[in-house]
Amino acid sequence: MNDTFLKACRGENTDYTPVWIMRQAGRYLKQYQKIRKKVDFLTLCKTPELAAEVTIQPIDALGVDAAILFSDILIPVEAMGMDLKFLEKKGPVLNPPIRDRDSLKRLSVPNPERDLNFVMETIKILRRELDGRVPLIGFSGAPFTMATYMIEGGSSKNFLHTKRMIFQSPDLYKALMDKITKTVIEYLKSQISAGAQAVQLFDTWAGIFSPSDYKEYVLLYVTHVIDELKSWQASKKIAVPVIYFVGECGGLLEHMKSAGADVYGIDWRINLDDAIKRLGTRTVVQGNLDPVALFLPQEKIELRVKDILKRAKSAKGHIFNLGHGVLPETPPENVIALVEMVHAHSRKR
Ligand code: CP3
Repeated sequence: MNDTFLKACRGENTDYTPVWIMRQAGRYLKQYQKIRKKVDFLTLCKTPELAAEVTIQPIDALGVDAAILFSDILIPVEAMGMDLKFLEKKGPVLNPPIRDRDSLKRLSVPNPERDLNFVMETIKILRRELDGRVPLIGFSGAPFTMATYMIEGGSSKNFLHTKRMIFQSPDLYKALMDKITKTVIEYLKSQISAGAQAVQLFDTWAGIFSPSDYKEYVLLYVTHVIDELKSWQASKKIAVPVIYFVGECGGLLEHMKSAGADVYGIDWRINLDDAIKRLGTRTVVQGNLDPVALFLPQEKIELRVKDILKRAKSAKGHIFNLGHGVLPETPPENVIALVEMVHAHSRKR
């Protein structure tokens, strides 16, 4: 049984630095493309046997120390009542965008056991098939990052509608965030009950704010999610680690660290030793290789791996990862080499 990743999450000593890769299942793998040729992305997410199969592909191919449930942060948004489509080249499209009380009123807080049953089924299949080989990570979008897609109706460059709602109609924003926050809490509780051994909250877009706006409009809700998960877990006498990933977190670390997470995911725009200094050396960190470094010759990748491992030494624990998701054009052989390098250069005996 490989529990190196879970030990690192808890800040315990490990024989080597565990590694997994955000978006490790996906288009850069031929095995994934083969399945995607036959089914569209949403069908793949909603077919437990197939979702489990693509979750395991990177475990076999890369030798990473954790599996992450194959799904998407927008799956629960569809269950809340929005129409969701993934268009080739354009990405996700959600309708109608939530910009007034009427569209908000039509959204509900889903019952995950019923409305997202396929996710729980996928988790159960995965626990059986992984059989202790590596732990399984469940996940959700963090409330704010989910809200951006719901308010914009898809991806965005400047988040105009989102920021306008926040700054001009804070009550409407708060009402929307309350619904999303409840959804995230119930969704993650169900994933843990189904067998997820750690959970990650993806706050990809939280870095678009000043620290004070981040604190008021983003952090408040994530903290509530983590508080609820922690007290629910305490009542059940379980302790599943919570990882909080924030994109462009450099300006936000002093605030971020009060979220109450077990592990903080750091993007590549800041040196890891600097992030650790500002989060506190009692912190467990995850990250933070630039995803584009995987396009370099392997000896150049190796220099960067060594540099990150050295900078991580001041932390209570380190889980190696990229600073954001692996890009679809990435050569798979470089990802395989990366995992080997992290293991080799961090091994203590
Ligand atoms: O990490 C994994 O391997 C697990 C699966 C996973 C996916 N999306 C699969 C996916 C996870 C954890 C996510 C999270 C996710 N989804 C985030 C947060 C992390 C991040 O990358 O910032 C966000 C913002 C999304 C929303 C999303 N999903 C967008 C904007 C897109 C379109 C852009 C793109 O990469 O295609 C997706 C689609 C998506 N999610 C794909 C995959 C494998 C590609 C779908 C395909 O096969 O065509």
